Formats: sequence, C-alpha cells, structure tokens
Amino acid sequence: MIDMAEIIDGKKVAGDIKEEIAQRVEQLKGEGHRPPHIAIILIGDDGASHTYVRGKITACKAVGFEYSLMQFSQSISESKLKHHIQSLNEDDDIDGFIVQLPLPDHISVEHITEQISPEKDVDGFTNQNFGSIVSQNPLILPATPYGVMELMHRYRIEMKGKHCVVVGASRLAGAPLSLMLMKQGMATVTLCHEFTQDLASHTKNAEILLVAVGRPNLVTADMIKEGAVVIDIGTTRVKDDTKRSGFRIAGDVDFENAKKKASYITPVPGGIGPMTIASLLLNTLKAYENRHIQ
Ligand code: GUN
Repeated sequence: MIDMAEIIDGKKVAGDIKEEIAQRVEQLKGEGHRPPHIAIILIGDDGASHTYVRGKITACKAVGFEYSLMQFSQSISESKLKHHIQSLNEDDDIDGFIVQLPLPDHISVEHITEQISPEKDVDGFTNQNFGSIVSQNPLILPATPYGVMELMHRYRIEMKGKHCVVVGASRLAGAPLSLMLMKQGMATVTLCHEFTQDLASHTKNAEILLVAVGRPNLVTADMIKEGAVVIDIGTTRVKDDTKRSGFRIAGDVDFENAKKKASYITPVPGGIGPMTIASLLLNTLKAYENRHIQ
C-alpha cells in the first residue's frame, strides 16, 4: 500500500539542466566561440502564447543564449511567414528557431512546420525529426516528449520492459512520446486516444501512465493502478477568480486523489512544463554544436 507518491519536481530538474547548459555556454565563450542564438516567431496576441514565449525568453537569458523575438500580426499571410522562415534557415547567425503555436486559422501548421530546416527545428516538430526518433542517431528530438524522458531518467524510473500507457495521440506530445518510450525506453507501449472505449480498462494496467490530452480531471484515481508512475502532460487554462490573472493551469489528472495511489507523480504546474523549456534549450545547444563545434 502506497502512503503518498513522491512528487516529481520538474522545476528543480529543469533548473539543474539550465545550470549545466549555462556552464557549457561559459566554457564555449572561454574558448572564443559566440553563444548559441535562438529566434522565436510569435504571431498575433494569444495570451497563453505570449506567456509561454516570455518563459522561453527568460530561460534563454538565464543560460546565456542570444535570442531574437520576431512578432507578426494575426493577419500575416502564409507566404510571408514562409519567407521569414526561409530567411532564418539561411541565416548563419541563427542556430535554431521556433514558431509558437497555435497559428491563425488561415495558416497551415503543416506547411509552416515543413518549411523549417530540420537542423534548426529546435522544437523537433518537422516530419524528419519526428521520424528520426526511431533512428539510431536522432537529430533533434521533439521537445515535450524529450522532457518527459529526461525527467524519468533523472528520477531513475526504469522504463525497460515496463507497460507504459499513453493517453492522447497528438502530433506534438502523445504520438512522439509513445515512439520514444518504445525505442529509447524499451518499454511495452499502449497508445490510447481520449476517445478510446473504456479508457479505464487500459489505464488500470499501466505501470507508467502518461496523459497528454488537455482535459482536466480526465484521469481519476480509480483509473490508476496502485503504485503506478503518473506523468501529467496536460496544460489547460481554467477560470480561477482567486488568482490575479483570473485563471490557473490544470493538468489532466486528479492530482490530489491520484497522489494517494501513485508511487511517483508530476504536478501541474511545475512538472513537465519547465522540462519542455529545458528540452528546447538542450536542442538549441545541440543544433549549435552540430553547426559550429567539431
Ligand atoms: N504551443 C504550445 N506548446 C508549444 C511548444 O512547445 N512549441 C511551440 N512552438 N508552440 C507551442
């Protein structure tokens, strides 16, 4: 009988990773190299996107990266945006860049993502980087699942041969995560949708349960096996009048009850969120080193 789960501190681990990156940047500068340089494209005035981008810029500053923020109005055309992306692909001073999502409805995410050179795709969103998950030597790993894997590694959570159940099959989280658990983690993987019939019959079998749907309280304590590791990747803004901002960020798991059943559990916020940003920094450092060092 588990008394209470160990709370996985993603904020602390992300801080450790940032410290390691900052030291590497200092070392590079000491050897006469310029620091890594990331560009961030931000379109329109979606509040959540602005908040995420602010967090990314703060993290870049903390590790000594250079950054360029490129802001465009909601009405920018797809062809203009592609043109800016092509300029970044060709700019030798830029090591990596991201296009913050969501995009306006008139712009195709797929078209824009595929315009990004895979070597500079530090979100790991392109089809080439998605596919490289199953290669011996991945180029750049998708940032959110990379953060999940790194967090579990640093907590010494054994994945090999374990039954992992992923809930949510999105292009940015669930789908690449299931491949990474299978390939890098050597786990047995069940991939569920939020629409999977009798979802609980699958989640109850999970030794490691990973949820990335974006629906608060989708996973309740009765859906969790006693002693399971629970990783919550959901981030949904929910109205909360007790907060100055008027909202709070909620995960997909009923944390308060789930923590009485799990062996390890990630909180929201402070779990996977900070790790996604840490992965973005790791990917940018890797893109830089691939281009400049050795
Ligand atoms: N929108 C929500 N999460 C992300 C992310 O990780 N990267 C980008 N580019 N956009 C996002």
